[in-house]
Formats: sequence, structure tokens, C-alpha cells
Amino acid sequence: MKGKIAVVPGDGIGPEICRSAVDVLDAVNKRFVHEITTFEGKAGGEAFEKSGKHLPEETIDICEKADAILFGAVGGPVDAQEKPKWKDAEKHVILGLRKKFDLFANLRPLRVWPGTESFSALKPELVKDMDVLIVRELVSGIYFGRHERVDTQTAEDVSRYSKDEIERVLRVAFDAAASRRKKLTVVDKANVLETSRLWREVANAVKKDFPAVEMEFMFVDNAAMQLVRNPAQFDVIVTENMFGDILSDLGGAIVGSLGLLPSASLNARKFGLYEPSHGSAPDIAGKGIANPTAQILSLALLLRYTYNLHKEADAIEAAILAAWNAGEKTKDLGGALSTDEFTACVVKKLAA
Ligand code: NAI
Ligand code: MG
Repeated sequence: MKGKIAVVPGDGIGPEICRSAVDVLDAVNKRFVHEITTFEGKAGGEAFEKSGKHLPEETIDICEKADAILFGAVGGPVDAQEKPKWKDAEKHVILGLRKKFDLFANLRPLRVWPGTESFSALKPELVKDMDVLIVRELVSGIYFGRHERVDTQTAEDVSRYSKDEIERVLRVAFDAAASRRKKLTVVDKANVLETSRLWREVANAVKKDFPAVEMEFMFVDNAAMQLVRNPAQFDVIVTENMFGDILSDLGGAIVGSLGLLPSASLNARKFGLYEPSHGSAPDIAGKGIANPTAQILSLALLLRYTYNLHKEADAIEAAILAAWNAGEKTKDLGGALSTDEFTACVVKKLAA
């Protein structure tokens, strides 16, 4: 097949790990005989220095012409956030792209790979083979409702959802569950919140289109506890914006290493922004030691969700696992390989 990906490396380690992902894409193109090409756009601090904007029009144009965006990370050192070059860089770029492309479904796979159990904050036997997908609604709910200081003593934030907003993200989650272990947990607080009751109503209606998927409801407080006590019980979790924000960070801590967590943000036409869950890691930028795994796994998600290339995505994941099993690891995982050396190992396994 033919395809076009916009690559937006951004700042810090972004360019280093995006280069790794593009090398892996080249290997996928060769092995599976595809012609998926890449076009690079600038964003973040470097873009600001050149154009005065963190998200230049030219980059938006490149993204608009592509099938998907492979995004690195943006942002400067934590102690330089107030400099114009870095101020609100992440907000301008990420929120700008989310809004521009209406990326309403945020997918965060939480997978504990064999041999990485020790990175988890939980006991290894609890997280062994954990493979959970959190689907978070990303562009509505309390974060996007009215925020008001009613008077000097009182403040108010409004949580609001429409049926359409709920249905479209539920469909993404049901679809994902249908292609996995066929279990969907709808997380809410329906004992208190009217928006949650609407979520349940819509979920029960959408369920009729997915007879093969088992659906359950769970209150968010219980879901947080269950994620820690027995994460293996979950397949796909879907929830509103704020609950999803909190649960996916909790999930990140359960998996452990930041360098291993990919994410996808999708819209209705399967256009997506795919990025690692970590930031630009200015403390290790330019040293060649960043773990490119989350970026490479983000590419795998792109192939899976935007192009429906599941064999290709599986092959990338298998190549990473094979490299680890051969003891080929970056520093953060206790190994000695540089970013480029580890990438070369993955590329070699893919070619084999
Ligand atoms: P961070 O995720 O960049 O780094 C946290 C720690 O994890 C650092 O010690 C870093 O070296 C390490 N780390 C992160 N990714 C790694 C990898 N692939 N391999 C090895 N080690 C890795 O978070 P931090 O330091 O809070 O933020 C740095 C900058 O990134 C800030 O400007 C922040 O605004 C930005 N940021 C951008 C995001 C985005 O573009 N979506 C998301 C989160 C933060
Ligand atoms: Mg968060």
C-alpha cells in the first residue's frame, strides 16, 4: 500500500527517537512491500526560534496532507519554562493539533512486556502479561466546560457531554475491544453524576452493534483500586476525559518505564496523532541514550489504527521483544546500548 506520514520530531530527544521510528518504518516498507513515505514538520522551541510560532502554518499544512502524524515531544528544560522559546510550547502544539484535527479518542496501551515486570510499581506477579488499553475521551467533559470564579469564596467547573461526543468515543473503544480480547469496561461515577448516567444510556445502545463484546460498568474509584489490585482483569477501559487522565497516569506507573509507553489520539476518519507518553527529556537530549521504544511502538499503533496494518504492527512489537530477549537493551532498562544501536537491533530483527 501507499501512505503518507507527517513526522513532527519536536524538541529534546524527539528528533533522536523519531529517527529511530523512521528507520523502523523503512524496514517495514521493505519487508511488507509498502510505500509509506514521511514528510517532516517543525514544532516546539526550534520552530519558535525560526518562525516565532510553536506550531507554524507550514507544519499544519504538512499534517493536513498526511494520513497520520508521528509526533515526538516538545518542550524545554523544566527550569527554562518561562522563556518565550519554551513558554506554553506543549500547550500550543499538542492542544493546537488536537483541536485542529478533532482528536477525540486518546488510546493508551498499558502493556507489561515479558522481562520488564521489575519496572512496575506493583509486584511482578500482579502485572505479568498485563495488556490493558485505556480509551480516554479527549476534547470534552469538565476540562472543556465553563470554568468560573462565582464570587471570591466560590468556584465552579462544569462537566458537560453530548450523546454524540459519548457515542463516537464508545465506538472506538468497542472496535478496539472487538479486535482484542472482547471485553469492555465502561468507567464512570453513575451513582452521582448525570453525565455518567448518559454515558451508560449511550453505552447500552451502542453495545447492540457489538454482540461479541462483553461490556461491564465500573465506578471510577473502584476502577482505580482494581487497576492496582488486579490489572489483568481488564481488556479495554473507556472513560470520560478527567477520569481517563487520572487512570492513564496511574496505568503508566503500573507499567513503570516511561520509555515504553506509546499513545494514539484519533479522530472519526482514523486520522491520528501518535506519540510517546513521555516528554522531550532535555536532561538526556543529544547524548544518544534515549530509549526509542515508546516512539517505535507509537509507529506500530499508527500502522494498526490508521492503516489497519496489524501484521506489520505485530512484527514491530515482536522485533522489540526479540531484541530484549537477546539482551539488547538501552540504559534505562539496565542495558548498555545507545539509541542508534538498539534501533539497529530492532531493524535487523524485523528484516530477519
Ligand atoms: P520527561 O518525560 O521528558 O522526562 C522525565 C524523566 O524520564 C527524565 O529523567 C527523562 O530523562 C526520562 N525519560 C523520558 N523519556 C525517556 C526515554 N525515551 N528514554 C529514557 N529516559 C527517558 O518529562 P519532564 O522532564 O517532566 O518534561 C520535560 C519537557 O517535556 C517539558 O518541557 C515538558 O513540558 C515536556 N513534555 C512534553 C510532552 C509532549 O510533547 N507531549 C509530554 C510531557 C512533557
Ligand atoms: Mg496527565
